[in-house]
Amino acid sequence: MASNRRALRERNGAGVASLRGGPIRSPYWQNVRTIKMLIESSRQLGLAAQLTLRRSVLVVISRRFALAVRKKVTVIGGGMTGGAIAQRVVEKGIADVVIQDDPQFAQTLHHGKALDMAQSASWLGFETKITATDGWGDTAGSDVIVCTAGAPRKPGMSREDLLNGNADIVRAKVTDAAKASPNAVIIIFANPMDAMCHVALQASGFPRERIIGQGGALDTARYRAFLQMETGVSIRDIHAYVLGGHTDTTMVPVVSQARIGGLPLTSLLSQEKIDAIVARTMRGGAEIGELMKVSSAYYAPSAATAEMVEAILLDQNRLIPSAVLCKGEYGINDIVCGVMCELGAGGIKRTFETPVSEDERSKIVAAADATKSLIALLK
Ligand SMILES: NC(=O)c1ccc[n+]([C@@H]2O[C@H](COP(=O)([O-])OP(=O)(O)OC[C@H]3O[C@@H](n4cnc5c(N)ncnc54)[C@H](O)[C@@H]3O)[C@@H](O)[C@H]2O)c1
Repeated sequence: MASNRRALRERNGAGVASLRGGPIRSPYWQNVRTIKMLIESSRQLGLAAQLTLRRSVLVVISRRFALAVRKKVTVIGGGMTGGAIAQRVVEKGIADVVIQDDPQFAQTLHHGKALDMAQSASWLGFETKITATDGWGDTAGSDVIVCTAGAPRKPGMSREDLLNGNADIVRAKVTDAAKASPNAVIIIFANPMDAMCHVALQASGFPRERIIGQGGALDTARYRAFLQMETGVSIRDIHAYVLGGHTDTTMVPVVSQARIGGLPLTSLLSQEKIDAIVARTMRGGAEIGELMKVSSAYYAPSAATAEMVEAILLDQNRLIPSAVLCKGEYGINDIVCGVMCELGAGGIKRTFETPVSEDERSKIVAAADATKSLIALLK
């Protein structure tokens, strides 16, 4: 493999080096010719070398394409989650990132974080830009906006306890953000997230496909992590999803359709273990808060959100459980609830009613009812 690589490097000289190490500076057609030549040359190599080369070429092309159109992502709030989301997105190299925050609450934290991240570019190799702003001018024309501004839970608090305080923040932030970026897709993140989506829908006037709540992606990641810890199999072979609401009592880790390498959960785990994993998933955020004490979770939430951002920016058509204003899914109408969504250019392209058991279906409907009761308390 190493000697194959060496042979290829010798045959093609700087071509391979430029693919690996730095920007391709030649004009478009020259790049295309170089890529064709590399693929032709690779036919004489082993299958593994061919596949590696083709993958590298695809990565280079997709990154070049993303940079050519210079997508922009605004992250509102530069706190624990906002900072982590900004970092994950800018390091993917798929969009410039602007962190928006208020000096009144963040002081200069967001400026410090943006500068710190910008200074990591030379070692990490991303060419996208990260900046911070106190206003909205620099956010104008964003493709995706993630709204994290809002108080996090303290140990012992429920997500619902944050309702009216965070509603005021989300309303103000989304109103300004939508004015500056009228075509953006907005991902709502602050809690209680399902209710905050209603606030954002009203404040922005955006259609349902462009106001997406992040909750299911995180809860799904937690569910899969606990299944992995209990079974010991690779996380990549675990296919399990969380639908319903994004609160400790309303999320629905779907057991009936969950599969590990095609096997139902019951073939690897006792019912008692499955019940314990479901319960632990539902308390996933609270457990982290109790352990971290000084903040709530941000590693897994930022990973989940960055995947959603990437799916939208690169039109990947990913199926990711997300909160959306339902229009008939599971019989729910005009209430935000987590269902399976296809994320791509423009936000939510399609929603799916994943088949679930009768019990799970009634819990999803109950989640929407709980959100309905919560939004009735909005001042
Ligand atoms: N949806 C999810 O999966 C998920 C996961 C984790 C956290 N969250 C939620 O995200 C939100 C942010 O969490 P965090 O850990 O980043 O909190 P943090 O305290 O680290 O950051 C809060 C951010 O909100 C801003 N802010 C606070 N009060 C404000 C106000 N009155 N007006 C304007 N901006 C204000 C701060 O400047 C800061 O940028 C919380 O509501 C938390 O519950 C959601």
